[in-house]
Order: sequence, then C-alpha cells, then structure tokens
Amino acid sequence: MSTSFLLRNGRRAISIISGGRRGTDALSGVNFISRHFIIDLSYSTHFMDFKGSSIPSSMKKLVVTKLSQNFRDAVALQTVPVPTPGDGELLVRNRFVGINASDINYSAGRYDPTLKPPFEVGFEGIGEVVGLGLSASAHHTVGDTVAYFYDGAFAEYTLIPAKKSVPVPSVKPEFLTLLVSGATAYIAMKKLGDLAAGQTVLVTAAGGGTGQFAVQFAKQAGCHVVGTCSSNEKAGFLKTIGCDRPIVYTSEDLATTLRKEYPRGVDVVYESVGGSTFDLAVNCLANKGRLIVIGFISGYQTASGIPTIRGGTLPVKLLQKSASIRGFFLPHFLGDYKEAMGNMMHSFAKGKLVCEVDCGDLAPEGRFVGLESVFRAVEYMYAGKNVGKVVVELGSPSLDSKL
Ligand SMILES: NC(=O)c1ccc[n+]([C@@H]2O[C@H](COP(=O)([O-])OP(=O)(O)OC[C@H]3O[C@@H](n4cnc5c(N)ncnc54)[C@H](OP(=O)(O)O)[C@@H]3O)[C@@H](O)[C@H]2O)c1
Repeated sequence: MSTSFLLRNGRRAISIISGGRRGTDALSGVNFISRHFIIDLSYSTHFMDFKGSSIPSSMKKLVVTKLSQNFRDAVALQTVPVPTPGDGELLVRNRFVGINASDINYSAGRYDPTLKPPFEVGFEGIGEVVGLGLSASAHHTVGDTVAYFYDGAFAEYTLIPAKKSVPVPSVKPEFLTLLVSGATAYIAMKKLGDLAAGQTVLVTAAGGGTGQFAVQFAKQAGCHVVGTCSSNEKAGFLKTIGCDRPIVYTSEDLATTLRKEYPRGVDVVYESVGGSTFDLAVNCLANKGRLIVIGFISGYQTASGIPTIRGGTLPVKLLQKSASIRGFFLPHFLGDYKEAMGNMMHSFAKGKLVCEVDCGDLAPEGRFVGLESVFRAVEYMYAGKNVGKVVVELGSPSLDSKL
C-alpha cells in the first residue's frame, strides 16, 4: 500500500512517500520511509523529443531469449516500444555500441545466474540524449552527447540512470573504447600492476579492445612491452602504439621466444586468454612477478566457460618465484572509474592515447552497421580478426534525427 504526493522544488526535488523500508535521504539527510523519485509521465513527456521529431514509437532491440554461450542461439532481435524515461533516467539514441568478449558470458547467464531470459544484453553505448526524466533534467538536456557502461546497450534506444552517463564532447566511437576496455586496462595496471620503469610487461591479446590500452599504459610507465597477437597486421599495429616486441604466436612459438629473449622472465602479465596461454604466462614470470587475470577468452565458447589449466603445480611455481596471481573484475573497481575516464579522455584529447576502433570495414560482409550486425561482430571478434575495439554503428544522426 502506498500514498503518493508530489513536492516540487523548482525543477528537481520531487518525492513520493510510501510504506516500506527505512533509510536516510542522501540529498536532505533526513530519515524517510522508502523514497521514490517522480514518475510523472505527463511532465516527463515534456522533456521527451517525441513531439514533431523522428523518435518512433517502436524500436529494435537484442534480447537474450535462451541461455547459451552461442550468441546467435541465445539472442533474438525484437521490435519493442521505445521506453519512456523515469525521473532520474536518460533515453539515449545509440549511435555506436561496443562489443565485448563477455557478451557471450552474459548471454550464457554466467554474470548473474539468477537472471532468467528474457533479458537485455550489451554493456556500453554512445549517442544523444533524446528524452529525460524530471530530476535528470537538472544536469542534462535533449541533444547532450553521452556514453555509458550499463546493461541493455544492444538496442536502438536505451534507458540509463543519468548518474551512469559519461558526458562526451561528440559521438565518436573512440570514446566508446574507453568505457570498458580502456577502463579495465587503466585501473588494473594502476591498482594491481605495481608497474615500475624498466620492468617487462607481457600483454596477451594485445591487439584487441583492452589489450591495446594495456600496451600503451605499460609503455607510458616506462616498461618494456611484449604483446601477443595472431597476425602480422596486428603486430604492425602494436608497433605503432609502442609495443617493443609483438609476438605473432601463429608463426613463432611463444614459449620458446619468451624463454630465449626474456630469460629472467617478465615482471607483469596482463592475461586475457587463459588455458595454455595462462600456463605459459605463469611459467615465464620473473621473481616477484605479478600475473593479472583479466579474462580467459579461450574457454568462453565452451559449455563451462572455463579453459583447463595445469593448476596442480601452481602453488609450487608461485612460491618458488615469490610471484602472485591477481584477479581483476571492472565492476569491483567502480570507485576508480571516474578518475580513469577523466585521465583517458584527457590523454585522448591531447593525442597521447590511441583508441583504435574496428567497425568491421575489412570483414567479409563489410562494416558493422545496424543491430543485426552485432551477431557478425561477435563472431568476428571470436575469429580473432579485430584490430582494436570491435564497434557496431547504429545509423547516422543526419539521416533520421532533427538533433
Ligand atoms: N576483467 C574485466 O573486468 C574485463 C573487462 C573487459 C575485458 N575483459 C577480458 O579481456 C579479454 C579481451 O576482451 P575484449 O573484449 O577486449 O576482446 P578483444 O581483445 O578485442 O578480442 C578478443 C581477442 O582475443 C584473442 N584470442 C586469443 N585466443 C582466443 C580464442 N581462443 N578465441 C577468441 N579470441 C582469442 C584474439 O586476438 P589474437 O587473435 O590476436 O590472439 C581476439 O581478437 C577477454 O578475456 C575479456 O573477458 C575483462
């Protein structure tokens, strides 16, 4: 049961009081009995761009309809109503959405086992605000360009809490590379790498979305950087971003090369591949070396999602080298997110950070445009074809918007 009333204070403070849990109001510091923000659709509509604009009543969206690590089996393209923003929300017209290796972990239900289909998918997007709720209008307006790291990005329009939005100067896909891939490398290296000038850093999947940033941050810290990749094209790219020794593991044996060229071992490993690559990375750690577990993509397409490793001897190897293995999961480091984004945006603006984007221009069926091509984009990544961050374009503002 709930009684609702509105308190309007200029354009913000609006609350509804209802029976329920107790807490402290973060804005006023007073105690309250369950607090909700306004869901005043008539007023909220005032801030929407629907009237006389090109916002349609329905949109396309990708929805997980069945749990599977096979993205095509798990996900369906659906036509649904364009949602209306609640009080603190922004409605974003997505222009670019980012593909992440973990999109298939998400569609397999590995992120939140309690989540049952149907549910939304896609971790990040960038676009324009086309509608917003009342309290969100205190800091945002229609036409703002924003990026976000929030569920449900694989849609033409996504509702996000205004607090989760990252203001960006324009809708460039390069900004999208920073939200997950860049932030992961920045925070993991800073918090867990203990990097020091002159040390050697090995980055696996170095030419990909997050690997490209790990290479650059290690180089900026004055380290010697070794990066693994599967093609000469990627090796060429890695050289342009400061990788001292790209190793094309498809044409030279990784273990042999590391043993021969780095007999002392490497001080830090930014490890994304797992399985035999993880085993090899443990073996090549120097004394007091740190291996950061970023992911284990080589297992994601299997039923368990987990590639096998030679774990039995792990304690012995770590003890003998006083080495350590450190896990990193971005959602656990959101306290460091704002600083990371600010720093990377600044570096990018100054031309000190390369944010390589791969929209599939060289993919067999061409550039990734439209939600339908998310499927192809995921497969392209899993075929190891991408150079930089895989990004899908969702239409052009000049074609269908008055913004
Ligand atoms: N912990 C976190 O919070 C976090 C956040 C973001 C990403 N990640 C992890 O970072 C890793 C990279 O993710 P990303 O989204 O940036 O992808 P990505 O690096 O852009 O693409 C994946 C790359 O992995 C390489 N790869 C090596 N073995 C592979 C295999 N067996 N199957 C498929 N690809 C293989 C491929 O490059 P080559 O062909 O050149 O080897 C491929 O291009 C993943 O493990 C992901 O889970 C973790």
